[in-house]
Amino acid sequence: MANYQTPRGTQDILPSQSRKWLQIETLIRSVCDVYGYEEIRTPMFEDTKVFKRENDSSDMVNKEMYTFSVHGEDSMTLRPEGTAGIIRSFVQHKMYGNADLPVKLYYMGEMFRYERPQKGRYRQFNQFGIENIGVKSPMIDAEIIALGYSIVKGLGLQSVKVLINTLGDEQSRSTYREVLKDHFKDHLPELCEDCKRRYEINPLRLLDCKVDHDLECMKTAPSLEQSLNEESKEYFRQVLGALDALEIPYEIDARLVRGLDYYTHTVFEVVSTHPESGTQATVFGGGRYDNLVEYFGGPQMSGVGFGMGLERLLILAEAEQVPLEERPALDAYVMALGNVGSKPLELATEIRAAGYRCEFNAVPRSLKAQFKSVDRFRTKVAVIVGETELQQGMVNIKDIKNQTQITVPFEQVIDTLDRILGGEE
Ligand code: HAM
Repeated sequence: MANYQTPRGTQDILPSQSRKWLQIETLIRSVCDVYGYEEIRTPMFEDTKVFKRENDSSDMVNKEMYTFSVHGEDSMTLRPEGTAGIIRSFVQHKMYGNADLPVKLYYMGEMFRYERPQKGRYRQFNQFGIENIGVKSPMIDAEIIALGYSIVKGLGLQSVKVLINTLGDEQSRSTYREVLKDHFKDHLPELCEDCKRRYEINPLRLLDCKVDHDLECMKTAPSLEQSLNEESKEYFRQVLGALDALEIPYEIDARLVRGLDYYTHTVFEVVSTHPESGTQATVFGGGRYDNLVEYFGGPQMSGVGFGMGLERLLILAEAEQVPLEERPALDAYVMALGNVGSKPLELATEIRAAGYRCEFNAVPRSLKAQFKSVDRFRTKVAVIVGETELQQGMVNIKDIKNQTQITVPFEQVIDTLDRILGGEE
């Protein structure tokens, strides 16, 4: 017999978990709502060129994409992240022409990366993200960090910290690229193959290498700070000032460059400090991008955003023992004794129409077995339909908590439930 399993790096979200997902998604949507972000849904796959842009040196683009071509058509790629598709859409639909900038978008959905799976790192994962496009202001960088932070805090996570850095503007970055090239040129033979490639395309990404991380030349690499021009320094000072004013604690991490190529100015990652968070501790990360809109054919316009892994939020909620929603107790269970035909189904339908969660017994079973179901569902009220009562147009209603039982006509079932269930809240 074939043994069918989820593909490596993917998981089923089972009913026992789905309420927790819903709770997190509801929290996210409500925070986005008060911050004035509107949802955008873009395709799960795009033309490969949307993600694989010229001179991209990131692992995500070069090693982790699910790329395919069907019937000889253009190469397509399952989205590894949200930002590129959103900016493609922003330009395609000329959202840059909106009278009110910035355009504030959020998205939630599956992303796909061919990574080595481990706890908190999957090949299919769910990401919530926001993009704030069209206005360049340090206040907005701080605002979106505040948005993400309030979701994490709103969920009840305590052990998180914000790591932040600046990559500076284009001029600062290009100065730094030269400084780095100069520093690493004598160390090239020591570097891994990827780093040799990064050296040519984007030396900044050398600092993000997991393989060469501990090399002496990595540790002695000059920091970006010295290459920042005054404008970039001032921009960063203002971001930090705003975070101070909002009382969001942060740490400046001069080595933070992030795994994607498009960032300029502010970059940040919010990480868990909980001992059980594991190696995949980044809850959300993002930053500003000055050149993406233009790359996709729009005007020169800056944007800023972040992506947040929902699986990681759940893992951290569990590690910190934040109570998340379980399946709620059942309001009513309609039991059937003897030959009562479709009456239990009819009553259940009526009870459900009144807004109560209700189950009914559909196959002949002993009274004992039915009461076991009542227990398992943590039922509040049992509605018992018996043959004799049915003939009299009556039904027994048992309040499980108080263990009291009354007999009422069919027409009074809902009123009786209202009284019992309404009274207990
Ligand atoms: P990213 O850092 O690649 O950024 O991903 C953002 C978040 O997605 C991570 O912090 C993590 O929580 C989650 N994540 C990433 N890969 C995986 C994985 N394999 N398994 C589980 N969770 C994962 C971006 O994607 C950028 N688009 C963020 C951004 C938006 N920057 C500007 N705007």
